[in-house]
Amino acid sequence: MRIIASFALAAILVAPPALAQEKSDAAHGKSLYAQCRSCHTPEENSVGPKHCDVIGRKAASLPDYQYSPAMTKSGLTWTPENLDRFLQKPAALVPGNYMPFAGIAKAKDRADIIAYLATLHCS
Ligand code: HEC
Repeated sequence: MRIIASFALAAILVAPPALAQEKSDAAHGKSLYAQCRSCHTPEENSVGPKHCDVIGRKAASLPDYQYSPAMTKSGLTWTPENLDRFLQKPAALVPGNYMPFAGIAKAKDRADIIAYLATLHCS
């Protein structure tokens, strides 16, 4: 019984690092967000719209930002899934949009950026 219990404990102790590798990492996403910063900030509209509370927001819904007709007509909501598709290749998901950004090839990098975006709230 004791031996079984210690095996079970060992399994629990070994499991977390393996799981952690799969999980998205907002801290890594924050450093990757450097590549968005030339056009975006969390707090204010710049070349691109601000990113606070972007998760769950309807695309092109900020009243004080001038979006492209393509983004306005996209009908998207920025769920994590749609952000993942958008960030992979913005021009593919919303053809004709004004975001001049090729995309992020690595799924893990996209997940990390989305995890970071989820931490950004408008005050
Ligand atoms: C070179 C400038 C530029 C870079 C770099 C850039 N963006 Fe954008 N982004 C824009 C512009 C401009 C728009 C508005 C697009 C439109 O209206 O068609 C936009 C729109 C968006 C939107 C839609 C927001 C809304 O309110 O509907 C999201 C989400 C977004 N960008 C995320 C990102 C992320 C994440 C990165 C970094 C990985 C990034 N962008 C990099 C310029 C940029």
